[in-house]
Amino acid sequence: MHHFEYFLYFCPKLKTKSIMEVIDFSKSNSILNRYMSELRDKNYQKNRLLFRHNIKRIGEMMAYELSKTLEYKPKTITTPLGTLDIPLPKEDLVIATVLRAGLPFHEGFLDVFDRADNAFVSAFRMYINREHTEVGIHTDYIATPSVKGKTLLIVDPMLATGGSLAAAIDSLLQAGKPKKIHLCCVIAAPEGIEVVKETLPEGSTIWCAAIDQGMNEQKYIVPGFGDCGDLCYGEKLQSFRKIADK
Ligand code: PRP
Ligand code: URA
Repeated sequence: MHHFEYFLYFCPKLKTKSIMEVIDFSKSNSILNRYMSELRDKNYQKNRLLFRHNIKRIGEMMAYELSKTLEYKPKTITTPLGTLDIPLPKEDLVIATVLRAGLPFHEGFLDVFDRADNAFVSAFRMYINREHTEVGIHTDYIATPSVKGKTLLIVDPMLATGGSLAAAIDSLLQAGKPKKIHLCCVIAAPEGIEVVKETLPEGSTIWCAAIDQGMNEQKYIVPGFGDCGDLCYGEKLQSFRKIADK
């Protein structure tokens, strides 16, 4: 049994009584609170190494909690002094992430599930109006193994409008029907959760280190922590697409 609080959502679009599980780690106290406080604190954010490191260790701890929900089968291990059966995960895992802010989070998951295969999707948000109040998602790259029959972990630190993850889910589902999807985020907005619920198959689970109150006009999560990709890797040119298209 997990020590974290569960929210159960009924999927309105599905006729069956499908339940989507949403897990919010911030509902119970753990050392994650320390990492989250540093991620959110604008003074600590000046240290990019620490910022990436905190994202990575939240990934490691979320992966550890998630590992308790996998299926296991015993394997006989021979030590120098005898033998014993140890239950080992029997599922084939694929860890998929969304470039670029997903990279340190992905690394945390991969440190824990070191035998997993991996997928990468490029998706970034672009403002599509002058006022910067509407965002569109640009995707143009995916590298993935088959996910058919596998347990697919889609890890991206931010779930804001849900556009990036919905696009990533759509792309990844073209690589087969997974046995189960776990969507893992550091901070989610309730609006984003509603959007991905429409795209996720029945029986999926959403894991969040925190669910914040919502988004501001520019579609940033509030209180959130700001632009995750920029905080990890530095600011990117917003006008790059226009320059490239010239
Ligand atoms: C961030 C984050 C998500 C996305 C979430 O990426 O990694 O992919 O925002 O926002 P959404 O739910 O509204 O789609 P971003 O677009 O900032 O790209 P970056 O990682 O390259 O900076
Ligand atoms: N992407 C981010 O990096 N931060 C947000 O608050 C929303 C989307």
